[in-house]
Amino acid sequence: MRIQNHPILSFNRGNQIKFYYNGKELIGYEGETIAAALYANGVFKFSESKKLHRPRGIFCAIGHCSSCLMTVDGVPNVRTCITPLKDGMRIESENIGVEINE
Ligand code: FES
Repeated sequence: MRIQNHPILSFNRGNQIKFYYNGKELIGYEGETIAAALYANGVFKFSESKKLHRPRGIFCAIGHCSSCLMTVDGVPNVRTCITPLKDGMRIESENIGVEINE
């Protein structure tokens, strides 16, 4: 799901690139963020609340919360909403299905 035409804004879409989300090959575009590319590919659940496992998606989209943290190319806790997508990136979800002891 991507905006194709807008009455006011214009989009300069970059080249099509491949990336991997939890091992699955997906298509994105140079110049968009990881979160935007995931969202466009139908990924809406970015993490879970630790106690009740409620789904968390993009919240602020400006790098000020922690709803979109994922492991990117082996680096944990990357804010995907402000990190540009690159060809061949390997993105893994975090905090999904994690149990905490109380
Ligand atoms: S959605 Fe808030 S930091 Fe990414």
